[in-house]
Amino acid sequence: MQNIKEAFLIEWTYNSNSIEGNTLSLRETQMVLQEGITIKGKSLREHFEAKNHETAIHKLYSLVKDNYVLNSKDVLDLHGLVLRSIEDEYAGRLRNAGVRISGANFVPPNAHKVSEYLDSLIAYINTNPQDLNPIELATVFHHKFVWIHPFFDGNGRTVRLAMNLLLMRHGFPPAIILTNDRAKYYSALNQANNGNYGKLMLLMSQATERTLNIYLSAIPGSDKDYQVISNIVNEPDIPYGQEYISLLARQGKIDAHKEGRNWYTTKEAVLNYIEDKGK
Ligand SMILES: Nc1ncnc2c1ncn2[C@@H]1O[C@H](COP(=O)(O)OP(=O)(O)OP(=O)(O)O)[C@@H](O)[C@H]1O
Ligand SMILES: [Mg+2]
Repeated sequence: MQNIKEAFLIEWTYNSNSIEGNTLSLRETQMVLQEGITIKGKSLREHFEAKNHETAIHKLYSLVKDNYVLNSKDVLDLHGLVLRSIEDEYAGRLRNAGVRISGANFVPPNAHKVSEYLDSLIAYINTNPQDLNPIELATVFHHKFVWIHPFFDGNGRTVRLAMNLLLMRHGFPPAIILTNDRAKYYSALNQANNGNYGKLMLLMSQATERTLNIYLSAIPGSDKDYQVISNIVNEPDIPYGQEYISLLARQGKIDAHKEGRNWYTTKEAVLNYIEDKGK
C-alpha cells in the first residue's frame, strides 16, 4: 500500500503539472521527488512545481479524515503550497483583477465577486442540497471552482488537489486526471459550462475507477490484472486481435486506460464484453 501511495504521488504530480505545461516526464518527476536529482535543461520553476505539488499532497493526506468539512482556508493553503517560491505574490491569495482562460467559452466572474462565489460554492458542497454522491460532488466542485477561477494562476492544479479531499474523506482513492486526456478534459469542462455535466462526470468516474483498480490489483489473487493489449491478445481464450481491442478501449466499451502510448486493459474486461454482447 505504501508503494502504491508513493507511485500515486509521482503520477499525480507528473500528470497535474504536465496538464499545466510542466515538461518534466514521469521518470524525471520521479528522479526529482524520490532521488532529489536536478534535471539538466529543466528550469528551476519546473523543479519547484514538482516539489511543491508533493508538499501539497502531503498536506492533503494530513487533512483527510472522516467527516472532513471543506473550508476556504484549506483551499488557500493548498494554493499557497502549489505556487510557493514560484509566484509568491499570488500564492494563497485570491485574485484582485480580471482573468481570461484561453480556449474557454466563458469569461470568469469579476474579481470582487470571487470571495463571495467561493464561499457559496463551499457552503453548497458542505450542505450538498441535491444529495449528490462523492464523485458527482467532486465533479461539480471542480467545474464551479475553475469557472470562478479564484486565483490568477494555479487554479487547475489546486482544484485537482482539493476535489480529492471530497473523494478521499469518503474513503475513495484520489482521481488523477491524465495528461493524455487533456483535450478531453478541456472539452468536458466547456460542455459543463453549457450545463452539460455528462462528459466531465464520466471522466471523473473513470479517473477514480482507474485508481481504485490499481489498488484492487495489488490485492493478492486479484483478477484485475492490467496488461498492455499486445499481451492480452496472447491469452488463449481471447478471440480478438489487437486492433479490435484497441478500438473497444478507445470507444470506452471496455474498462481500459492509456499510459504513455499504450492502452491497458484486463482479460476480464474483454471477457465481460463478450459475455454482455451475447445477452
Ligand atoms: N473551457 C474551460 N472551461 C472551464 N475551465 C477551463 C476551461 N479550460 C480550462 N479550464 C480550467 O482552467 C484551468 C487553468 O487555470 P490556471 O492556469 O489558473 O491553472 P494552472 O494550474 O496554472 O494550469 P492548469 O489548470 O492548466 O494545470 C484548467 O486546468 C482548467 O481546469
Ligand atoms: Mg497556469
